[in-house]
Amino acid sequence: QAKQPLAGKQVLVSAGGTQERIDPVRYIGNDSSGKMGTAVANAAAAAGADVTLVATKMLPVLPAVDAVYVTSAAEMHDAMLANFEGADLVVMAAAVADFRPTTVSGNKIKKQSGDDALHLDLVQNPDILAEMGAQKSHQYLVGFAAETNDLVANAQAKLERKGADMIVANPVGYGQGFNTDTDTVTILRPDQAPLALDEAAKTEVASTIVRLAAMAM
Ligand code: C5P
Repeated sequence: QAKQPLAGKQVLVSAGGTQERIDPVRYIGNDSSGKMGTAVANAAAAAGADVTLVATKMLPVLPAVDAVYVTSAAEMHDAMLANFEGADLVVMAAAVADFRPTTVSGNKIKKQSGDDALHLDLVQNPDILAEMGAQKSHQYLVGFAAETNDLVANAQAKLERKGADMIVANPVGYGQGFNTDTDTVTILRPDQAPLALDEAAKTEVASTIVRLAAMAM
């Protein structure tokens, strides 16, 4: 049983970057590959859980992972909230766009002669993690913090603001964090000293996250 610490548990994971539609051929996106979230889903499945993965990228998953494909933050929000109540462990690894275009143009936006600028109106997306943090009863809630600067301080603030039980802080930038196969993360939990892990494969980091979460549940 030691190898199946999540047997009988429901795990809900998000992965990948959301796409926020501008017009029929364009969107606002980000560099998230979905590798970390998918690795967490697979690690939870290997630990015996029934897993629902809500993702914008479809990467290979174990048979115990039920993958749901979404594109926008709004779709991800609805899919996560629909599965939240029955979940024991939720890991929000997706890079959710903070803003989306206020209106989606029905036709491809054209360049007008004389225009040297185009202004897009953006509106804030719901913060899925914060909403789950405010609603949670028994769920153990894990979020990520991708930071270019002041990693631990920013991630610590996120832990409190979003009502999470764990924040996995990872430095991002060119060649780091997004779309790589390894990560150097620091794990933050309320009332515990930050745990800085050595650089490791995302699959290994995912197993550590799942193991630490299972111990705390
Ligand atoms: O505030 P920031 O985007 O850096 O927080 C990152 C964490 O919050 C990640 O776990 C991410 O999945 C989650 N998040 C969210 N909804 C948003 C923005 C971020 O759930 N709109």
